[in-house]
Parts: sequence; structure tokens; C-alpha cells
Amino acid sequence: MTSGESRSFAAPDLGQKERRQGVRIGVVGIGYVGLVTSACLAEWGHTVVGLDVDDQRLLSLAQGRMPFHEPGLEALVASNSSTGRLQFSSRIADLVEGAELVFVAVGTHDGNGGWQTETVRACLAAVVPKLDDDTTLVIRSTLPPDFIRGLPSLVQAFRDEAGRPPIALLLNPEFTREGSAIRDFMDPERVVIGVADDPTGNGEESLKRLYGAARAPILVLSAMDAAFAKLGSNLFLATKISFANELARLCDAFGANVERVVSAMAYDSRIGGAFLRPGVGFGGSCLPHQLAMTVRDARVTGMEPALLEAVDQINRRQSPRLVELLTELCGGALDGRRIALLGLAFKPNTDDIRAAPSLTVASLLIERGARVVAYDPMPQARERAVALLPQIEMAQTLREAVTGADAAALVTEWREFVEADWASLRLQMRAGLFVDGRNALSPERMARDGFHYASFGRPRDGAQGAFPTTTEDAFRTLATTAGNSHDGLVGATALTGAPP
Ligand SMILES: NC(=O)c1ccc[n+]([C@@H]2O[C@H](COP(=O)([O-])OP(=O)(O)OC[C@H]3O[C@@H](n4cnc5c(N)ncnc54)[C@H](O)[C@@H]3O)[C@@H](O)[C@H]2O)c1
Repeated sequence: MTSGESRSFAAPDLGQKERRQGVRIGVVGIGYVGLVTSACLAEWGHTVVGLDVDDQRLLSLAQGRMPFHEPGLEALVASNSSTGRLQFSSRIADLVEGAELVFVAVGTHDGNGGWQTETVRACLAAVVPKLDDDTTLVIRSTLPPDFIRGLPSLVQAFRDEAGRPPIALLLNPEFTREGSAIRDFMDPERVVIGVADDPTGNGEESLKRLYGAARAPILVLSAMDAAFAKLGSNLFLATKISFANELARLCDAFGANVERVVSAMAYDSRIGGAFLRPGVGFGGSCLPHQLAMTVRDARVTGMEPALLEAVDQINRRQSPRLVELLTELCGGALDGRRIALLGLAFKPNTDDIRAAPSLTVASLLIERGARVVAYDPMPQARERAVALLPQIEMAQTLREAVTGADAAALVTEWREFVEADWASLRLQMRAGLFVDGRNALSPERMARDGFHYASFGRPRDGAQGAFPTTTEDAFRTLATTAGNSHDGLVGATALTGAPP
């Protein structure tokens, strides 16, 4: 990472006066959300103390090592630590001292797809009694609706026990994306503030002042509305991806090219092209978890969230679908085949492998007897993946991963893969079979480079024909594959667009 990178994420132009008037801020939990929040607020001229219970993490940060990869973060942490505006501590006293605002950004997932609110509860129990009476508490962690409903009384109880007066309590949902989090924080499309308890309005004013630096619309909502604004955004993005995957399947069946279809659709400003991309499906710590939890929470209320169930079901089908494509390209069996798995992170520009499709794909390939040799440009993603799935062999370079491979599966659309010299890499492979799980490469180019190439919703090998000849054929194809949908497997005929 270079200092040039951090400059491209420079803070909006604050006047000297505004910079000099920086306030003291505490951030509890310096993970993906908390560390970015801390570094960006320090860059805006505030004095920030980040608190964490993980001593190893604090030690690494003190030595300038980031706990995860986020473009621009290392430079931002280094420059603000050197001025003393950004500090890290394990002591609550350091966090609360003179803080105008204290953000809470601890994890709320149990690692198995469920909510885990014990950490946030314990953190509130420890921090809330110690907060100055005029400090505003801002929750940035994503929380379940029931917990949000009970949050004001929980915080009030901790204040009462300590014999202290009430404090202002706000929500400030996190909309930044891993991989572009610094830019998203510095230059947000909107800021959402949820008011849980703020009778004087001082908390709201303080948080609005803080985000004034970003010059984005600031929306002040109730706490539940703010949480749902975040939830609704994520659910909608997940829906767009699953819609694109359903559309790709229709394109396969009826002989359309989903890439061209989506490009044409994207001209419509009501639709837009972002997230309308078929492939191996969404992963990461947010979308799959929030979707699954919302379906579960909705069912508890007696509601049947039919659309969201379908979005989840379609997403779960995509990794098995990629494995089916590979199996078919390999002649019907994967036993003993060497497969190069390209990309482990759930998306480019991060080393986060939480709920990454790569892990599901790798497990399925291993189950079918394949030898999986994986590569991701991020060393930490490689280390984390092999810790979870020790049967994966890890390559240190793209070339090493594909050398001697029967087939390659692209699962994360890293630039290194998209811009690779595939004609040259093809010569290293035993067979030129390639499944593009992100529709990131050109089918025509890959065919020219000597690959037998398959992707989602696009004619195989860049061919223009070879589709069902009649609408009845296409419907028959869809009906056949629908019968398999419960186990996530789809007949290869529909996927490739070949006649049934
Ligand atoms: N990662 C994202 O892109 C993202 C996006 C939007 C919302 N969120 C939400 O933000 C929250 C944080 O997510 P994350 O990905 O940053 O989590 P994370 O696991 O990366 O980081 C959490 C940090 O909190 C620390 N911690 C735990 N208990 C603590 C305590 N009592 N006191 C101090 N520190 C403590 C942990 O050591 C860890 O460093 C979650 O609720 C998540 O759902 C995350």
C-alpha cells in the first residue's frame, strides 16, 4: 500500500477552523467497521481512541500491522497514529475520557449464521456506566429488531445501576463496503442516524456535526427505521443478485446472453446495472447473514417472507451450480481431477473469507474427489481458508495454481485474474477447462486462448447458437432442472444452453 493510495481517499476539504475544533471520540471494537471508522474520524481531525479486548490485535496495530486488508487503511492508520490523533487501548478509562461520542462496533454474528448479542450486551455493561453524562453513545453494530427495541431500557438500566443520569443513545448504521470502505466513509451517499433516546437533541446535533464533514444528506429516523434502512438496502442488493441469477438461468434456457440483456436493462434509471450480475452468488459477513436472519425473524412473527426465501434459495444454488458446470466440463466426474480454485475472498480487495462462496465450492469439489489447488492474492485469505479446510492445497501464485490443472474455477473476480495472460497460462494447464463463476472474462477471448469455457447465462465458448430450438424445448428444460432445485443441483443442459 502506498501513501498515494491514501491520498486518493483524502478527507473532504475541511477548513482549518473545523480541523482545529476536532472532538474526542471513542470507538469500541476495532474490527472491519470500528477500525475504518476510527481511522477516518481521525483523518477528519478528531482525536480517536479505539478500544479492543483482543490484545494481539492491539499489539499488531501498535507495530503498524493491519488485522485485515482494506485499501488505503494502513496509510491512514499510520499517518494519524503518528500525529497522536489515533490511539488504541484496552482500557475503558482511555476510551471514555472527555469523549463527546462513543461508537460501538463489536461483532454481532455467532459465526454459524445466527445472531449473537452477548458481546454487545457485555460491552454496554462495561462501558455505559463509565460514560460522561454528556457523552453520546452511538451503536454502529448491526442488531436484531428485538434487541433494538429493548436497547434504550438496557442502557438506562446500566446508567441507573451506576447511579448516573441518562445519556443520548443513537444508531448509526454502517453502509460502507469492504474493499472501498475508506472512500465510502469519507464520501458517503447518505448518512443515517437513528434516534433511540435523545430527549434534548444534543446527541443528534453532535453526530450531525461530525458527519457535516462528509457533505452528504443526513437522514434522521427512529432507531427501528434506521436499522431497517440498512436492512432493506442489504436485502434489496441480495435480491438483485439472485434476480440476475434467475435471469441467467432463463437466458440459458431460451438462448439469450444475460450480459447483453443486463446491459440493455441497465440503461433504465429505475433499474440500474449495479449488482445485476449473475455468478456464484453473494457471500461475506453481511448479506447472507442478514437475509437468513430476516427470514427467521419474519417467520417468528407468523409472516411468510416468500420473496426473501427465494432469494436465499437461489443464492444457495449457485455454488453447487458452478460445481455442476465443472463436473460436466470434466466429462461427468471430478474424481482425481486437479482443479485450480481462483479466489478465496468473498469479493475482490478484501481478505475476508466469511461465508465466501469459495469455501462451499472447495468443500463440494473435495467431496467429489477433486484435488483443489487454490490461490488468492491476499496471503491472509489463503491462511484463513486452509485453517478452515486443511484439504485445500495452497498455491503462492496464479501460475502455480493453474500449472498441471485439469480445470480452473474463477470464484473471486480479482483484477489479477481478469487481466491475466490466459493464453500463456493455458500452456501450463493439463486441460483447458474453465468455469467463470463471476462472468468476469470474455467467453470469446477465452475460447480464442484455447479454453473450453463456461459461465452463467452466456453461451459456452462464446458460441452464438446451440440453444433450445423452440419455446416448448426451453420450458421442458426449465421444468427438468426445477425438479432438482431442492438439492441445489441443476442439470447442465439448461446451464449451457445446449438443446435438451
Ligand atoms: N464487516 C462489514 O462490512 C460490516 C458492514 C456493516 C455492518 N457490520 C456490522 O458491524 C459490526 C462489527 O462487524 P465487524 O465486521 O467490524 O466485526 P469484527 O469481528 O471484524 O470486529 C469486532 C471487534 O470487536 C472486538 N470486541 C469484541 N468484544 C469487545 C468488547 N467487549 N470490547 C471491545 N472490543 C470488543 C473484537 O475483538 C473485534 O476486534 C457487526 O454488528 C456487523 O454486523 C459489518
